[in-house]
Amino acid sequence: MRAISYGEYGGPDVLRLVERDVPEPGEGEVRVRIAVSGVNPTDWKRRENGDRLEGETVPHHDGAGVVDAVGPGVTEPRVGDRVWTLLAAYHRADAGTAQEFTVLPVNRVGKLPDGVDWDTGASLGVPALTAHRALTVAEGGPAELAPGALDGVTVLVPGGAGAVGHAAIQLARWAGATVIATVSGERKAKLATAAGAHHTVAYTRPDAADAIRRIAPEGVDIVVEVAAAANTALNTAVLAQGGTVAVYGNDRGEGSVPVDFGTSIWLNARYQFLVLYTVREEALASGVRAVNAALADGALPVGEDAGLPLHRFPLADTADAQRAVQDGAVGKVLVDL
Ligand SMILES: NC(=O)c1ccc[n+]([C@@H]2O[C@H](COP(=O)([O-])OP(=O)(O)OC[C@H]3O[C@@H](n4cnc5c(N)ncnc54)[C@H](OP(=O)(O)O)[C@@H]3O)[C@@H](O)[C@H]2O)c1
Repeated sequence: MRAISYGEYGGPDVLRLVERDVPEPGEGEVRVRIAVSGVNPTDWKRRENGDRLEGETVPHHDGAGVVDAVGPGVTEPRVGDRVWTLLAAYHRADAGTAQEFTVLPVNRVGKLPDGVDWDTGASLGVPALTAHRALTVAEGGPAELAPGALDGVTVLVPGGAGAVGHAAIQLARWAGATVIATVSGERKAKLATAAGAHHTVAYTRPDAADAIRRIAPEGVDIVVEVAAAANTALNTAVLAQGGTVAVYGNDRGEGSVPVDFGTSIWLNARYQFLVLYTVREEALASGVRAVNAALADGALPVGEDAGLPLHRFPLADTADAQRAVQDGAVGKVLVDL
């Protein structure tokens, strides 16, 4: 079978198109014939700076395809089921989705409801599960999203046209929240609105905090933060009493996140850092269940009209696909198998 693989860290050119043997599923594992592989920033970051290169690595955690074989003891999913993958290349470095077949433990796949296409399935794993985690870490908040779970809650999504931002808007909206997204300009405002944001505010405006406060006079309850250091002052200015900043990224920042002590303590504010790789298995499973329920409700569409433009590459051009993500492609980069 064809696969993309690398055995040393470096730029996109370390990625090679190779032939590998089709793997056999072991106990508790399924084999998935991948239709579409999804690229995330973590894929190029790992390729450039990873610290756990264990021989041959096949990149990409996210993907969608059909279960074509199951190992001993597996009752669900079954052969023929359509699935999406999560953290595929984490438990074993050569199990990424940039190959025609991969073998995964059953808890690394979610079933795709009927009618949900491969592109949607390949866009879920990292973005949707990160967004789900961010939306479920507030004090007294739901541990699992469902319709109505965020009724009465105001969510701020900085970078609403980003891949995680897009999923956060969709999931928050599905769960009943009022959603405010910040964006850098008009095109991204349109995308965030198409994703379902009730309001958009340009974070480049000097009065962005006032604009958010006008929309949410009591403040925002949850911030799904992509740029923690850059946005601390804004977050402090707009957070509600007992509000939570769920930090999944520090884009365009480095090192520390300077949080103002006086304001934050009087707000009883909570900063919750999160990285998907080490989220508790239980919380990850809640995310998979909620994402599947949202998918079944048609709440997680992708494509320009849904606020997430798609950019496609053939498997042989995976280096270009990763380069596109690295260069800040707006939307979702997909690799066709
Ligand atoms: N912790 C985790 O488990 C986890 C999971 C997923 C992703 N991540 C990380 O999160 C980051 C985003 O991932 P992604 O896939 O969503 O990337 P993406 O699609 O490139 O989106 C990034 C977004 O951040 C926005 N942004 C940058 N600075 C901003 C600021 N100061 N205020 C508001 N928005 C800002 C960008 O908008 P403009 O260009 O218009 O400013 C862009 O829309 C990456 O660093 C990724 O590695 C972490």
